[in-house]
Amino acid sequence: MTAIHIENVSKVFEARGATVTALDGIDLQVRAGEFLVIVGPSGCGKSTLLDLIGGLATPSAGRILVAGQEVTGPGLDRGVVFQQYALLPWRTAQGNVEFGLEAKNVPRRDRAARAGEYLDLVGLSAFHDRYPHELSGGMKQRVAIARSLAFDPEVLLMDEPFAALDAQTRDGLQDELLRIWERTGKTVVFITHGIEEAVYLGQRVAVMTSRPGRIKQVVDVPLTARSATEDLRSDPEFAHYRHEIWSLLRDEVDKARAAELKEVARV
Ligand SMILES: Nc1ncnc2c1ncn2[C@@H]1O[C@H](COP(=O)(O)OP(=O)(O)OP(=O)(O)O)[C@@H](O)[C@H]1O
Ligand SMILES: [Mg+2]
Repeated sequence: MTAIHIENVSKVFEARGATVTALDGIDLQVRAGEFLVIVGPSGCGKSTLLDLIGGLATPSAGRILVAGQEVTGPGLDRGVVFQQYALLPWRTAQGNVEFGLEAKNVPRRDRAARAGEYLDLVGLSAFHDRYPHELSGGMKQRVAIARSLAFDPEVLLMDEPFAALDAQTRDGLQDELLRIWERTGKTVVFITHGIEEAVYLGQRVAVMTSRPGRIKQVVDVPLTARSATEDLRSDPEFAHYRHEIWSLLRDEVDKARAAELKEVARV
């Protein structure tokens, strides 16, 4: 099991002659085997933070350690599901899921079997030979999810992976992800805009401030046996945590809106 240490991390972008501070002094410890959810207003730097953990960008200050090693680039220990599906257009659904397994030197026959298994998990067996342009947005995202699960990394970094899916598919995949997490002890960092989704999935929920992104508060969500409880979402305890996170977020979303309006007025 793998822990992630985020130590005083900042990220500054230079764009169109302006400087944007996306993240400002983020300190966050993700425990080994933890399911941590991050919520925050749009533009507060959630995707930026995930990119930094994934090694797809480098911090302007501070550092990130994964299993005690400083992150200097992408690695096979970390799998990323992006906010926008990132599939290889020249490969079928099956070929895209197999792609990650090739990097891990899984033998060809096992690759096909494992890819099939995970396509089945996301309900896309019948579409295994379709190319990305022949799939809907939600289907593409499901292929991307299947790919990262089949690849079986120690750390799963997921950026609003279920946002483009219909409610039934989303609920099903949430439960499946929880089962996989419980079974494998992966460390999961999961970004969402959905407060219910955050409470349902997260052992802890980190609420970020509006830009520049900081950690406002980390809320413990000690709901036991999530996937075993019949109707967890209507539990009073569930409502309690939902309200707590909603309140924390509301102030930040208001601030983000005000800042956006000011920016628009300046243009
Ligand atoms: N490559 C880049 N160049 C310049 N600015 C960037 C770049 N990437 C992100 N930003 C800026 O950094 C800030 C944070 O962006 P980021 O995508 O991390 O936000 P987010 O919290 O994921 O938002 P959303 O919830 O809408 O996905 C935004 O102001 C964005 O415009
Ligand atoms: Mg984002």
